[in-house]
Amino acid sequence: MFILTLAEFTLDDFMQHYWQQKPVVIRQGFKKFVDPISPEDLAGLACEEQVDSRLVYKKRGKWQAENGPFESYAHLGKTGWSLIVQAVNHWSPEVAALVKPFDFIPKWRLDDVMISYSTPKGGVGPHIDLYDVFICQGSGRRQWRVGDRGAHRQFAAHAALLHVDPFDAIIDVELLPGDILYIPPGFPHDGVSLETSMSFSVGFRGKSACDMLSGLADHVIDKELGSTLFSDPGRPIHHKQGQINATDFARIRAQLQSILDDDSLVADFAGSFLSRTKCQLDLQALDEPMDASQMLLSLAEQPLVRTGGLRCFYVDATVAQGVCYVDGERHAFGAKAKAAIRALCDHDCVTHTHLRGALQNPAFVSAIVQWINAGYWYFED
Ligand code: SIN
Ligand code: CO
Repeated sequence: MFILTLAEFTLDDFMQHYWQQKPVVIRQGFKKFVDPISPEDLAGLACEEQVDSRLVYKKRGKWQAENGPFESYAHLGKTGWSLIVQAVNHWSPEVAALVKPFDFIPKWRLDDVMISYSTPKGGVGPHIDLYDVFICQGSGRRQWRVGDRGAHRQFAAHAALLHVDPFDAIIDVELLPGDILYIPPGFPHDGVSLETSMSFSVGFRGKSACDMLSGLADHVIDKELGSTLFSDPGRPIHHKQGQINATDFARIRAQLQSILDDDSLVADFAGSFLSRTKCQLDLQALDEPMDASQMLLSLAEQPLVRTGGLRCFYVDATVAQGVCYVDGERHAFGAKAKAAIRALCDHDCVTHTHLRGALQNPAFVSAIVQWINAGYWYFED
């Protein structure tokens, strides 16, 4: 279990003064930090087709980036390269435990835990990210420089590596095991490993309005919503043929706005859209699927554990009808299931007591059974 310790400020101070605003070093945020995965296991994961990984190094002074899966690392030598593996929390429960200390931010904002194994002098080069990240230093030491937000020029140092011009540092520190560097979006940064090291980046995503609107458009098309035609009964005689006048403009805006004003439509879109995973999940479907009575028997004895990285949410606007969104899909179980749904989405582990209020509901029980059979949730024994 990882426990976050803040010595210089409280969590409230952090959220008020740093989150999304400025980078900060949290010295010994994790006391006696032990890597939750070994470099060998990380390297093994990067050999798997389903796992998203990259190697970054320099060849004759030029940056190079290769995407996994990898067959061997033997050609890389002892210095100057990094292996970066995305969403390791999906594949390792021990790594997934690194998300818990950051549960003062809701799960829908979480992206993933990315791990970087770096040899001395290794790093991905100076760059800017579009997400908030807590870079937790594991074994080994690493030097980090962070610059201020500003009009930094970005350029492709390699087709797959967007770098930023040299910047003045507002933070220039050596991170030791257990130290955490928090960087909000837009601050240029560069981490160079001083020795062989592991960094664990707990990243939080923010979607742009463009991402949200394009997702909303897909949702409206898929669900065949928003088909009410523009209407203008009682229109006065129009005099300027080329003009879209202020009244028409207001009607056009109102037609679009009616979609955004529909709370349950937006809730269903947001819940489904935000509960989709970017990277593949490690779904272990049961060889021998269980039925409802077996599930209830197991649940009476042990907790049900959510697979690492599975995203499941409820939205205040629709939870009263027992609606939840699991891995991109909307499910509705009725008002009485509200407490069970909240527990299922709020906790990584749920017990019979948490779900009690919905266990008489055949639709809920059947969904739980299907989720277990497909590997979304599992019993440890
Ligand atoms: C790394 O750990 O090598 C890169 C992390 C980052 O800068 O976002
Ligand atoms: Co970065």
